[in-house]
Amino acid sequence: MCGIVGCALKRRASDIIYGGLKQLEYRGYDSAGIATLSKGRISIVKRQGKVEKLENCIGELCGNIGIGHTRWATHGKPSDVNAHPHAAGKFAIVHNGIIENCSELKEKYFPDADFLSDTDSEVIVRLLDKFYDGDLLNALKKVADLLTGSYAIVVICTDYAGIAAVKYKSPVIVGSGADGNYAASDAPALAGLCREISVLEDNDLALVTQDDVRVFDGNLNEVSRAVRPNLATPANLDLGGCPHYMLKEIRESPYAIANTCAVFHTAERELEKICSGADRVIITGCGTAYNSGLVAKRYIEQFARIPCEAEIAGEFRYKNPIVGENTLVVAISQSGETADTVEAARLAKRANARVVAVTNAPYSQLTGIADVVVPVAAGPEICVAATKSYAGQIAALYLLANVLSGRATDFEEMQKISRLCKETVENTDISAIADMCARSGGVYFLGRDIDYAVALEGSLKLKEVSYIPSEGYPAGELKHGTLALIDENAVAVVVITSERLAGKTENAVEQVLSRKGKVAVVTGLESVAKKLKDRAEIVKICDCGEYLSPLISSVALQLIAYKTAVMLGRDPDKPRNLAKSVTVE
Ligand code: G6P
Repeated sequence: MCGIVGCALKRRASDIIYGGLKQLEYRGYDSAGIATLSKGRISIVKRQGKVEKLENCIGELCGNIGIGHTRWATHGKPSDVNAHPHAAGKFAIVHNGIIENCSELKEKYFPDADFLSDTDSEVIVRLLDKFYDGDLLNALKKVADLLTGSYAIVVICTDYAGIAAVKYKSPVIVGSGADGNYAASDAPALAGLCREISVLEDNDLALVTQDDVRVFDGNLNEVSRAVRPNLATPANLDLGGCPHYMLKEIRESPYAIANTCAVFHTAERELEKICSGADRVIITGCGTAYNSGLVAKRYIEQFARIPCEAEIAGEFRYKNPIVGENTLVVAISQSGETADTVEAARLAKRANARVVAVTNAPYSQLTGIADVVVPVAAGPEICVAATKSYAGQIAALYLLANVLSGRATDFEEMQKISRLCKETVENTDISAIADMCARSGGVYFLGRDIDYAVALEGSLKLKEVSYIPSEGYPAGELKHGTLALIDENAVAVVVITSERLAGKTENAVEQVLSRKGKVAVVTGLESVAKKLKDRAEIVKICDCGEYLSPLISSVALQLIAYKTAVMLGRDPDKPRNLAKSVTVE
């Protein structure tokens, strides 16, 4: 699950590749590397760490043809030697995906060889070197036929004035620009370079030179693939006066809500059609997208009274789910590229379900599968931890639930929520709680019903950016096990936005306090704030009713996570071990 960019240009390639990799860092930042071809020789620089580690070396790389890679480690720890490109003989390759039969291939074809790296990718370049007989395309096809798993592979060869690519289950796009031609793992790498791109299909191969791009299917017949506009714009790397993208993007949440509402009409008609007669809903996604699905489950069940399940995509796809033609499957993904979510949507499609994508990426693998796309208009999100896209997803899912139930959406109310969200972002002081969290041994996020769904996201946010152990828990379940973890080093962050459930959730506050745990309460309810103010840290947010409260309370929790991470000296934008877009299983 890595970022790839390759090119054959009329100008020097290394700085263009470097720029493309910078745009792709959301796919991983364990290591980065570039290989270029000049006068029949391949030169490689690669380093453990973020793409910027290459900045001082790209001057060493001559040549107009090259490939680059930013890695999220799967096989083999992050290190210089495991960084891509990998080279053997006349070849250098970059690979995204997982080669599942790597050990068998090594044993069969290279029983005595010492491999330089611990990666599954090195076997690919060794095989290319072994099978090459002067025809690059044939050799690549031969090697691809031996691989099981998933792969996007881009290759340079000292005999060929261009790059070659092959793909299966991991995306590859190709495109043409003023300076030459390109292949990449996804559109942002080519933002500002190619106005149009084509997406390769599984088993496709491509030959890309300065002058043209040729695509071949798995039988090596030359084919043409649809050309479409590259809507990716170079990510606005401007921090907008903020020290981190995470803070900048939390501050953009109100716009994500407003913009998502503004574009919803583009999907409304189709959505009405596809929802008609649906008797069951399954929501699926990963990480934050799954958590927004948990909020949506509550909307759908409450408004439409249709049974609705939320399933983690990686589970859904392996459990032989009960899905039929009247099942509406809603796949949520910021990137539209998350492997488990994409495969879950495919599975639903194969089972004749009606598939809706809720995504921030208008042209992605997911949108290619779905019957209807409900756009999330959050704009590019750079921080690995999702923030404004969560707000956009909740807004989109609220509107979807309204369509499903036949409720009219009050768009003025949505505008008001966007304003309240802005107020929350600008005026909420969470410093004392962040300080409590930073000193704690563990943080427990508690809530009931919709607040529980938000608590799960608050906990995910805190652990991913601060590395403090954290759990999201239903307030009523605390006493059935988790309470054993509460002592003077524990912090409970309790979300209370519903008048209906306030009294019940307050019981959990008492339970934590009586075990000497520290408590912070995030609430829009004056009565709760008043009652608990002497015994708990209070974050008073705007009171905006139960259903839309996630758009406000989640922002307070995101700010707590952000501030805690900064207090602990973490980089909230690029947390260790994580990547923004997870395109492997
Ligand atoms: C990764 C990211 C998470 C994100 C999840 C799903 O794990 O680190 O922040 O929520 O993928 O991503 P998606 O693009 O499908 O929403």
